[in-house]
Amino acid sequence: MVVIQNSKYLDFLSTLGIEGAHPGGINLTKEIFKRENINRHSRILDVGCGAGQTAAYLSYRYGAKVTGIDINPTMVDKAERRVKKNRLPVKIMQGSVENIPLPDHHFDFIISESVLSFVNKPRALEEIFRLLKNGGRFIAIEHTINQRLKKTEETEIKNFYGFPSLSTEKDWLDLLKRAGFAHCRIQEHTSIHSVPNFHFPNVMEPELYEIMEKHIDFLFKYKGRLDYRIYSCTK
Ligand SMILES: C[S@@+](CC[C@H](N)C(=O)[O-])C[C@H]1O[C@@H](n2cnc3c(N)ncnc32)[C@H](O)[C@@H]1O
Repeated sequence: MVVIQNSKYLDFLSTLGIEGAHPGGINLTKEIFKRENINRHSRILDVGCGAGQTAAYLSYRYGAKVTGIDINPTMVDKAERRVKKNRLPVKIMQGSVENIPLPDHHFDFIISESVLSFVNKPRALEEIFRLLKNGGRFIAIEHTINQRLKKTEETEIKNFYGFPSLSTEKDWLDLLKRAGFAHCRIQEHTSIHSVPNFHFPNVMEPELYEIMEKHIDFLFKYKGRLDYRIYSCTK
């Protein structure tokens, strides 16, 4: 297994082509977008689009003009195959959310679903802000710690997932405001869940099992402490 982006966890997700790899999964995504004013004229960017499930859904359901970008070539390949198979006019790009080669004021909506925790947050938020039209909406489902953790615990989480930093609700709000966003709202928990789709290979490397086990261990160990929130704000 080749480790990309310094995160064995992300490499595990891409090797298995895991879709809907964010808390709440595609069902939460559907609920969130029901409340937004989307139509076929809406331009939407899905940053860190992974295997393209959300990008494809937004194109299919709303006829919106959707672009997905992901840094991982395996994910990009899976997303491209998905939109091609379903004959959807979604544009998939390979690149980093920290430096997106698209013009300013281009999108009505930008979504990030479990992506910003893996990157340089101020840099990515600056890019997202730049790409949004005035009045455009940014929606993020992102990992959030409910309290400061012990140094050793923070290090354990950061090393495993490849998170450069861990953020509380207040940290996120500060980052969003510093990037220029207004009307930032937080939604805490929802009862909406869906099980991510796995595409297990015929032969799975033992290392992949170990990563999956460790991720599941962490879900229990840090339950109620390593959490997530839905952030929404306006440019
Ligand atoms: C947890 S997965 C979530 C994928 C997708 N949003 C979903 O919900 O299924 C995180 C994704 O972020 C992508 N990613 C990580 N760093 C990135 C970066 N700097 N720029 C763009 N994508 C990145 C990874 O390749 C991976 O596909």
